[in-house]
Amino acid sequence: MSQAPQAKYRKDYQAPSHLITDIDLTFDLYDNDTIVTAVSKVIQNADSTKLELDGEGLELRSVKVNGEEWSHHEVKETSLLLAELPAEFELEIITKMDPEANTALEGLYKSGGAFCTQCEAEGFRRITYYLDRPDVLAKYTTKVIADKTAYPFLLSNGNRIAEGDAENGRHWVQWQDPHPKPAYLFALVAGNFDVLRDKYTTMSGRLVDLEIFVDKGNLDRAGHAMTSLINSMKWDEERFGLEYDLDIYMIVAVDFFNMGAMENKGLNIFNSKFVLANDQTATDRDYLGIEAVIGHEYFHNWTGNRVTCRDWFQLSLKEGLTVFRDQEFSSDLGSRADNRIDNVRIIRGPQFAEDSSPMSHPIRPDKVIEMNNFYTLTVYEKGSEVIRMYHTLLGEEGFQKGMKLYFERHDGTAATCEDFVCAMEDATGVDLTQFRLWYSQAGTPTLRVSSEYNADQKTYALTVEQFTEPTHDQAIKQALHIPFDIELYAQNGDVIPLVMNGESVHHVLDVKQDKQTFVFENVVERPVPSLLREFSAPVKLEYDYSDEELSFLMKHATNDFARWDASQMLLAKYIRQNVVNIQSGSEVKLSDELIDSFRGVLLDANLEPAFIAQVLSLPSINEITGWYKQVDIDAVDAVLNSITVSLSKALEDELSATYHSLRQAEYNIGHDAIGKRALRNRCLQFLAYTEKGNDLVIAQYDVANNMTDTIAAMTAANSAQLTCRETLMSDYSDKWKHDGLVMDKWFALQGSNPVEDALENVKATMSHEAFSLKNPNRTRSLIGSFLNTNPVRFHDKSGAGYQFAGEILRQLNDTNPQVASRMIDPLLKFRKYDEDRQALIRAELEKLKSMDNLAKDLFEKVTKALDE
Ligand code: TRP
Ligand code: ZN
Repeated sequence: MSQAPQAKYRKDYQAPSHLITDIDLTFDLYDNDTIVTAVSKVIQNADSTKLELDGEGLELRSVKVNGEEWSHHEVKETSLLLAELPAEFELEIITKMDPEANTALEGLYKSGGAFCTQCEAEGFRRITYYLDRPDVLAKYTTKVIADKTAYPFLLSNGNRIAEGDAENGRHWVQWQDPHPKPAYLFALVAGNFDVLRDKYTTMSGRLVDLEIFVDKGNLDRAGHAMTSLINSMKWDEERFGLEYDLDIYMIVAVDFFNMGAMENKGLNIFNSKFVLANDQTATDRDYLGIEAVIGHEYFHNWTGNRVTCRDWFQLSLKEGLTVFRDQEFSSDLGSRADNRIDNVRIIRGPQFAEDSSPMSHPIRPDKVIEMNNFYTLTVYEKGSEVIRMYHTLLGEEGFQKGMKLYFERHDGTAATCEDFVCAMEDATGVDLTQFRLWYSQAGTPTLRVSSEYNADQKTYALTVEQFTEPTHDQAIKQALHIPFDIELYAQNGDVIPLVMNGESVHHVLDVKQDKQTFVFENVVERPVPSLLREFSAPVKLEYDYSDEELSFLMKHATNDFARWDASQMLLAKYIRQNVVNIQSGSEVKLSDELIDSFRGVLLDANLEPAFIAQVLSLPSINEITGWYKQVDIDAVDAVLNSITVSLSKALEDELSATYHSLRQAEYNIGHDAIGKRALRNRCLQFLAYTEKGNDLVIAQYDVANNMTDTIAAMTAANSAQLTCRETLMSDYSDKWKHDGLVMDKWFALQGSNPVEDALENVKATMSHEAFSLKNPNRTRSLIGSFLNTNPVRFHDKSGAGYQFAGEILRQLNDTNPQVASRMIDPLLKFRKYDEDRQALIRAELEKLKSMDNLAKDLFEKVTKALDE
């Protein structure tokens, strides 16, 4: 029996005992017996003659120091301990490992027919014994040797410096990366691909070769990724003044990948989901996702690679910042409001849910058992909101000054979040002392706002209280520095200038205390306030708006985001009320006021179609669950369904007119065209619930000339349980059963199928020829969508859904703990449900906890959830 996994603490950081300045790697690639030779230059960095190198799942063949066999070594469970070392030496280590047996997809593994690597966060230690920590930066030279026919392409980071043939039909290529980097940015690929090539000239005139490697036959799906890469390179030069720093940039698409993509220096490895697209296989959403992820990984070249993280507790230093950059990229290229709305939905839904779960943690965690568990919505998405708050407080100019200083100070080194705050402070002179709490405090703050109008004095007072509920990891909370963006409107819609103490003030208020009152002068009539504009901080807003005020804001607020937000607050009021109605046996009711407001938006020719589609999208069950301490999932689901049906009845003529007016003969992915399809397909989701629904959906499926419209028809058939559902599903499966990536959309529909025997369906679907639990994309599509988007069936009172989840988790624990650990999240939130369900979920968690080979990943989450 091995010991319980140990936690690491941020406060315990110590510099490494040794530095490794150079490493020369040789890979002799074989499916089961790959031999890795690592020759490193090592220098003592502390007064120590001992060096402990990380290593897992390796078979040690030999250790030499300065050319001599080194007997002063000890092989431990997850490390190699070397002793009696000189101050400076050359270290040669030869190890063997088995790529084909590596189903965890961490380290060196096989995806389909190709060898590839995934080293972030701590995967390099599965390749060789090494100081596998991000503050050890070395220059890499990598020689890859493999069979020439099966693996014509041999790739690694940097520039190709030599190549040649070897014995037995093998060949080799040697690569050199001039930029020192931590081990997590190492990459190697060997395989047979089709290559899409292009070129880019940077702003200083460097000519860069761009190469995208895809499975044979997929070249016609690589174009959008290339366009997105070129757009990313241009955008980073224009907006941030940052250019690329090597002569070649490669992207490889693989089918077996645990996450979205990886920013390895000069050799990104991507989940094929974020590369491959054409109009027949990908939806508009897929296209936008590809643009965002290609951008994200490219932007890491500066925020992550040139300046990396000192330790993994600092992960948000690169991830929050890079998500902010990719969000800005998408917003500059497309619709800012549409992007902002999508991002805010993620924060208010799954991120807030994470904040209130047993896994709650600050964007810079203090305690970690398995680092892979901290690639979270909090670190990424809330991390990005924190960067956005700097931007809101300092403005674009101040923010860019801070970025410039950050790069001047830290280029080529491993930095901390504190370094970033200091750069922003020193570049702008703004005091960010209190702002730093955003890095250390977990949980979602609430802003409780009240207002008072004084007609005699012509003053309007806003009182703002802030508090943060205790989280699983922290009991005591302090007041944060919250940028609070507001506007006040006169009854005719005019913006009332903000005046305090006789002076005009900026619309972003600094909320810093537990309770604070802002008194505005010269307010000649009772205003309607627009609060937390642009979602200027990741907080919950409480303000007692009337229906009339919300309808007013839907019309008169000066920006799209605020108008959308008002529509969501109006819906939220009715969802809450109707949950109570349903629970007490009454009917779901909407007011005429609400229906008129939505009709107004639908008919407003001045609004962007994409925006109207967002207004017509109800909040997710996930988000609604966050409003309650304990949620009645069946009641919420019933309310959402009734609201959909009521709106479709009340607005049928308008929805139908809009639907028919937005037909486009040709498919293109311009933002206008995407917006029109989004609205048209949103209308279809409502119309599916009307009498004409079945015919409309069949007609759309039959004439669709692109995947967006095809999937929209199937989604409508699925959620409204139309009679055509089965026909459409089997037609699609016949057509695409040989293409896992395209089938993922079909698997996701099976997972979210609201039909009564959904679980039996999901189980049967697992034997579909395109399904495999070994493939993370397939698993997430089918099982993930059942757990996360089918609340009524997953939370069935019998507990069958939970038992199924438990079975799958026990299997995944053995084959791919990272995927298991992402899949378990809905079970961690058991306290959100009634006592009976809690007991059933707990039983599954207990069963997992008692497994004798429980991986660190699940161990950390299960024990957190149960220990309370
Ligand atoms: N750094 C990657 C990104 O955000 C994240 C990533 C890719 C990752 N693959 C991983 C993290 C595997 C942990 C494990 O772009
Ligand atoms: Zn990233």
